[in-house]
Amino acid sequence: MTLEQDALTLNGTVHWTSESLIARDREVVSPAIYRYTDVAFARGEGVFLYDFEGKRYYDMAAGIATMNVGHSHPRVVRAIAEQAQTLIHAAAHVGYMAPYVEMAETLLSLMPEPLDKGKVLLVNSGSEAVETALKLARVATGRSMVLAFMDGFHGRPMGALAATGSSSAYRRHLAGLLTGVEHVPYPHCSRCPFGHGSRTPQTCCGQWKAFIQLTLEKLVHPDDLAAILVEPIAGEGGYIVPPDDFLPTLRAICDRTGALLIVDEVQTGLGRTGRWFAFEHSGIVPDIVALGKAIGGGLPLGGVVARAEIMNRWWPGAHGSTFGGNPIACRAGLETIAIMREENLLENAVRVGRRLMQGFEAARAEVPMIGEVRGKGLMVAVDLVDEHNQPISTERVKQVIKSLAKHGVVMTKCGPSALRFAPALILTEQQADEVVGLVTEALKAV
Ligand SMILES: Cc1ncc(COP(=O)(O)O)c(C=O)c1O
Repeated sequence: MTLEQDALTLNGTVHWTSESLIARDREVVSPAIYRYTDVAFARGEGVFLYDFEGKRYYDMAAGIATMNVGHSHPRVVRAIAEQAQTLIHAAAHVGYMAPYVEMAETLLSLMPEPLDKGKVLLVNSGSEAVETALKLARVATGRSMVLAFMDGFHGRPMGALAATGSSSAYRRHLAGLLTGVEHVPYPHCSRCPFGHGSRTPQTCCGQWKAFIQLTLEKLVHPDDLAAILVEPIAGEGGYIVPPDDFLPTLRAICDRTGALLIVDEVQTGLGRTGRWFAFEHSGIVPDIVALGKAIGGGLPLGGVVARAEIMNRWWPGAHGSTFGGNPIACRAGLETIAIMREENLLENAVRVGRRLMQGFEAARAEVPMIGEVRGKGLMVAVDLVDEHNQPISTERVKQVIKSLAKHGVVMTKCGPSALRFAPALILTEQQADEVVGLVTEALKAV
């Protein structure tokens, strides 16, 4: 079947229907991509997506936590158009570009001391940022080993995947990834990986510290440790908020061993948790920060921020990429950050995130399938459980998400059994209430 047979062609322009688009996609696109919904997106506006028949959906995925100021914000659209008319691309290896420098300066301005006096390297995605950070840490320390976490997610390309420990499914048939990464358990207190049942971050058993200690005694000599790579809140792993002493403990281990602390803020970063970066909640400052998702305002952009003396260990030509720091992506990101500042979207994330969590807590009385509700700011997970308070299967969660789309809400999952709410940070309290209502109704019908 050809495109013309499948879609309606009028005056040379293809007019898709949701059905015809999905049919063509299935013919020509790799099956490697899992689709959480069977919705074809014709356009987006604010916190909403629309299909080709005009049906409206609350978008709780926001391009997987990227569209912080909502879809097609007029100011972001204008910034993109103006930059496209001026300079689409020239490449940082060829010369100097103003949006690249302005993005670097803006990212540094959001960082606490001493990272605010650091240096920036821009790439194309979150996983590329993570791989860049790992390369930098190895070069800067002259060491080879990395400590990463089970439940941690850092991306799918081979290097980032070597550090990912959120699911063996991502590593299936891919044994022998980048060597030199050891994984230790992430402190997921409500489902303690050490078998201590359901605890809170406040009553954490603390075994994760002993596990790291043991790893440094038995497997990784501290002198070989280049970096600890960690998400401040495990994102893909289930929006797991660790105990307060988690990052400070990792910081202390790095200080003691001379390793570098790399914080992966690809998902938590740029305001989603109510601070520009989630590590700020803990009071520590990492050596290297990996960024992605929202910093491009919806266009592909990643970045690494590091203390100047670390970044200065690199020599011209040590790293780079053709499109990294593309001017249009930088402009879209810069405009997004400007809007977030002017509209106090960090505060909004805290207020509306709380409302969303309270809404689901309250809905539990009517819908026993709602288990733990957790998160920070507009990073909210709602665990789905069976009658024994055990997580329902991942397959069932996926079915639930498909049925939610029929009720007008699109989203993804996180962890094995949680609904993941990562909407645009412009979501209002009233809209949050509506989302809770729609999801509650859909869960009752499951
Ligand atoms: C914490 C974290 N790191 C890295 C990545 C990889 O980013 P990308 O998909 O842009 O390569 C993701 C993606 O979800 C992420 O959540």
